[in-house]
Amino acid sequence: MGKIILTGERPTGRLHLGHFIGSLKNRLLIQDNDDIEKFFVMIADTQALTDNADNVDKVKNNIIQVALDNLSIGLNPNKVKIFIQSQVPQLSEITCYFMNLVTVSRLYRNPTTKDEIHQRGFENRVPAGFLTYPVSQAADILGFNTDLVPVGDDQLPMIELAREIARTFNNTYGNVFKEPKALVPKQDVCARLPGIDGKLKMSKSAGNCIYLSDEPEVIKQKVMSAYTDPDHIKVSDPGKIEGNVVFSYLDAFVKEDSFKKYLNEYENLDELKAHYQRGGLGDVKVKLFLNNVLQELLEPFRNRRKEYEKDLDEIYRMLFKNGELARQEVSKNLERMKSAMGLDYEKFLIK
Ligand code: TRP
Repeated sequence: MGKIILTGERPTGRLHLGHFIGSLKNRLLIQDNDDIEKFFVMIADTQALTDNADNVDKVKNNIIQVALDNLSIGLNPNKVKIFIQSQVPQLSEITCYFMNLVTVSRLYRNPTTKDEIHQRGFENRVPAGFLTYPVSQAADILGFNTDLVPVGDDQLPMIELAREIARTFNNTYGNVFKEPKALVPKQDVCARLPGIDGKLKMSKSAGNCIYLSDEPEVIKQKVMSAYTDPDHIKVSDPGKIEGNVVFSYLDAFVKEDSFKKYLNEYENLDELKAHYQRGGLGDVKVKLFLNNVLQELLEPFRNRRKEYEKDLDEIYRMLFKNGELARQEVSKNLERMKSAMGLDYEKFLIK
């Protein structure tokens, strides 16, 4: 039996380099594996509403953007089924049953939601749906009987909770779920890319993103304004690599042939870093190099996106059709789950 993959994101904005390196790139790498049986990418509109209840338009309008972003990087729509979460209501039913297997204090201990509650200033006014979205995410993951979840490292607590819920369910009602595994990028900088302003995480709300759909001039302007080492004032000054986002991005995006193509006086990134640390290498030169590396990465994405944008109806039709597939998949698992729980009431009928 091949593996089942599920991943996804909330449609609250266009996707950026942080998404690409944290999760989208792994989708590309695994889509061609022979041992993959099913591969779903979920546009998590239901989850997005947990902190956007009064902003349905934002969520609704970004569904197509997130679909386009996923297609633009080269995911093959014949292999990877992109669908909209709210079109699979069975997931909400599973969430209801899972709610009873988790304590409220356990939910308050989730480091990712803790951060988000703080960022959003929810403190004493956390929407119940927001506090419990990790349970609904466990339902997403287990509802598809998922083996592997390719995500950035901020999602690890969600997968941990899904594993706990699978265990608790199996112990309480009988063996139904397998314990899913996360697939995170190997390098730390890839699992969580900093923003261009040097803040810990690239995020739309911080306004420090390079989007996958950014035009070339915008990419360049963002790269040239990126945070480096504030003490590296003169070219001759020694520079710091740690916390310098230009080098973090190079760590994440430089390819084997990048130096040959764009900066052939250096063999590799180690040499470039050593020169910067010694002094005598200016920020502008490194930034122009990074700009070339990123333009090369993003150009084909932008072009593919423009092709797909020519027929949005076709994309929506694809999403709806995949929704049907997803419903079938989750219904199967919901039935198994309900019969393990003893909720298969049709058995009451004698004839
Ligand atoms: N929490 C994810 C995000 O914020 C989105 C998501 C919802 C998800 N359900 C999922 C990711 C299931 C992986 C698997 O982007």
